[in-house]
Amino acid sequence: MCGIIGYTGKEKACPILLDGLRHLEYRGYDSAGVAVENSDREDHPIEIVRVKGRLQALTEKTNDGASVEGRCGIGHTRWATHGEPTELNAHPHAAKDRRVVVVHNGIIENFQELREVLTRRGYEFHSQTDTEVVAHLLDAYYQGDALDAIARAVTRLRGTFALGILFREEPGVIYAVRKDSPMIIGRAESGNLIASDVPAILKYTRNVCYVKDLEIVRLTEDSIRFFSIDKEEIQKEFTTVQWDADAAEKGGYAHFMLKEIHEQPKAVADTIHPRLKDGRVDLSELGFEESEIASLRRIQMAACGSAYHVCVTGSYVLEKLTGIPVDVDLASEFRYREPVIEPNTLMVVVSQSGETADTLAAMRYAQQKGVPVLAIVNVVGSSIAREADKVLYTWAGPEIAVATTKAYSTQLAACYLLALYIAQIRGTMTDEAISSHVEELLSLPGKIERLLEEKERIQWLANKFSAERDIFFIGRGLDYASSMEGSLKLKEISYIHSEAYAAGELKHGTISLIEKGTLVVGVATQPQLVEKEISNMVEVRSRGACVLGITSYGNYTIEDHDDFTIYIPKTADCFYPSLVVIPLQLLAYYVSLARGLDVDKPRNLAKSVTVE
Ligand code: AGP
Repeated sequence: MCGIIGYTGKEKACPILLDGLRHLEYRGYDSAGVAVENSDREDHPIEIVRVKGRLQALTEKTNDGASVEGRCGIGHTRWATHGEPTELNAHPHAAKDRRVVVVHNGIIENFQELREVLTRRGYEFHSQTDTEVVAHLLDAYYQGDALDAIARAVTRLRGTFALGILFREEPGVIYAVRKDSPMIIGRAESGNLIASDVPAILKYTRNVCYVKDLEIVRLTEDSIRFFSIDKEEIQKEFTTVQWDADAAEKGGYAHFMLKEIHEQPKAVADTIHPRLKDGRVDLSELGFEESEIASLRRIQMAACGSAYHVCVTGSYVLEKLTGIPVDVDLASEFRYREPVIEPNTLMVVVSQSGETADTLAAMRYAQQKGVPVLAIVNVVGSSIAREADKVLYTWAGPEIAVATTKAYSTQLAACYLLALYIAQIRGTMTDEAISSHVEELLSLPGKIERLLEEKERIQWLANKFSAERDIFFIGRGLDYASSMEGSLKLKEISYIHSEAYAAGELKHGTISLIEKGTLVVGVATQPQLVEKEISNMVEVRSRGACVLGITSYGNYTIEDHDDFTIYIPKTADCFYPSLVVIPLQLLAYYVSLARGLDVDKPRNLAKSVTVE
């Protein structure tokens, strides 16, 4: 997820581009750039300025935009997916002699294939990005008719894209086109704008138009024209935006956490789709030799906080589907227990930020012991990503709220992909089983979407329990791992004391904490364990607990043994954690909201813990 902007009008473009990008930094902030075409000069050159790092660096490099001449330009703030955050990989990207210049938000899945074709045709590539392919492809198709070049090029692209495009031979003109990535058009007094989202242009206009997939837009300082992919001109409606900039950055949601909870269907889809082909999992991007996978004797996992809960869930799924024994450690404990690591062990670390000190140290410890490390990371170019032997990126985009939600869900999906990939190579699952799991994986985004529609009821439950002193979560196996995440989410943003327990452990001591009215959330999704989990709910309820049961449709007997029930759609046993976590996140969010707390920036916490 990156932020793009474009302006063509009577004013100097660069200050407007910088201002717009400032309101898009929540979409990505690891590098930035602008391209401005100076149509007031005979040769109307296109100047490109790019930086590594926050937008502030670009603002300084362009002296707040004053040093860049021209009234027509495009800009970009990046969230790296392909190619580390560097000046060379920053956008805009240009074709030879800057005949075509583009900014892009999205992922071109077939970029490698197109890159090989274009290289054979003599095109030189300067960056590691997927985006540069688009600039050269447009250049290859451009025969003086920009609309035609765009229409032909986008039909060759697979994946998601919102593009802002300058053609050197069409001064003062910006083209835009999108598929599955957002794009809006703004009509302002002084000129016309393109942007990834409303916050970028609110200062200049509230008159916007939402571009649909494969619609092409041509903007000049005093005209906006829309075309279909068949180059037919079409009419479009403009609407007036009511939001203020802050609300707009949150996409109209009250908090980044709620926005990110609602971004999970797309984040999971973006993470799994490029790795699923013809009912099989393709993780060739990791570069494992099949022999490496075949000879694996053990998997060691380590991480912190919510990422550790992903490891606990991942360990169950990996062991079950691959038959390889999996150990899981809290990263802060791992190296100090001086673990014995046998040969043919693969170390897997999980981290949203890629900067968590304990996880980094655990990884380095394993590497010093000669153990290869696969990192599941969300931030491209982060320390863990750079130092790991192999990286499986989650494509959740930037996560702003301290309490992780969408990154967590993409990390679960990454573990499922890894387990299925290893099972495929080691032959521990039949082809039918693989393809039925792949089908279930592809259905997860839709099922998460459906669960989000139930948020009002969960808000009602949360308001009911928001004054609780203690809240417990219980479950067995994968449900215990999900309970741990539910309890952490609640603790970190509501400040209510909460614990998660392996349900079978209760009678060995903890059940003494249960008294009249104590809220116990019982998670029961695993078919072979539901009965046992329900009997644990009966145990606590008989001591006065109020039980909120979470189970899949069909397990209706639970209603005889709990006080409130949340049903989740059926799925493959090992994918239930991806569905259970949605009501648990919403419960924590609404309890925090009911207690009037700072949901996005809870006390005493940081988004990335870079100290031990
Ligand atoms: C989770 O909501 C917290 N922000 C925290 O527990 C987090 O999971 C932990 O600090 C690990 O962070 P990482 O994924 O960036 O390594």
